[in-house]
Amino acid sequence: MPEPTFWVRGVPVFRGLLDGSAQASMVEDLRGVVAAAPLISPLTPRGKPMSVKMTSAGKYGWYSDRAGYRYERRHPAGVSWPAIPQSVLAVWNSVTGLRRRPDCCLLNFYGTGARMGMHQDRDEADFSYPVVSVSLGDDALFRVGNRTRGGRTESVWLSSGDVVVMGGAARLLHHGVDRIRNGTSALLGDGGRINLTLRVVD
Ligand code: SIN
Ligand code: FE2
Repeated sequence: MPEPTFWVRGVPVFRGLLDGSAQASMVEDLRGVVAAAPLISPLTPRGKPMSVKMTSAGKYGWYSDRAGYRYERRHPAGVSWPAIPQSVLAVWNSVTGLRRRPDCCLLNFYGTGARMGMHQDRDEADFSYPVVSVSLGDDALFRVGNRTRGGRTESVWLSSGDVVVMGGAARLLHHGVDRIRNGTSALLGDGGRINLTLRVVD
C-alpha cells in the first residue's frame, strides 16, 4: 500500500497517486459513465439546487431532492447506474487493501463557482468502511473539521491525481470544498473539477 504524503486532521492525503496518463485514461472511462448516466443537479432537502453536478456508477447512486439524501438503484431517468470502471476500483484496492468492493462511485463535477458545504458522509450502513476520494482536474480547497458541526478546521489544496481516504476515526469528520481554482489543470479540456467518492453502502 502507498504511504500517505501527509495528513490533515487525521485524513491521509496521497498526493499525485495517479500520474498524468492514469488520470487521462480514468477521465476517458468517466466520459463513458456520464454518457450512460448524465450529470444531474440534485436539490437539497430544502429544495435548493446544488452547485455541484452529480452522477454515479455502481450498484447505487447517491441522490438528493426534497425527500432527503439517499442512495438509489437507478438514475432519475430510470436506467441502472453504469459499472464502476476498473481504473477507479484499482485506486480503491490500492489505498484500502479491502476485498470488499465499493457499492457506489459518486461523481461530482465542479464547474465555475461550484462548492460543497461542510457535511458528513453518513448515508451508508457501516462506517467501518472508509470513503475514498479521487481528485481530477482543477485544484480544490478541501476543508476538514470535526465529528460535530463547527470548531477548528484545516484546509488543503487538492490537485489532479490526489487521493484522500476518510476512514477509521476520520470517517465521520465534517468536510467540504470552499472553492475551485479555475484553469489550474488542462485535464478536462473545458476546465472544472471531478471528484469521485467511493463508498460501501450496504
Ligand atoms: C464530497 O465530500 O462529497 C466531495 C469532496 C471533494 O469534492 O473533494
Ligand atoms: Fe463528502
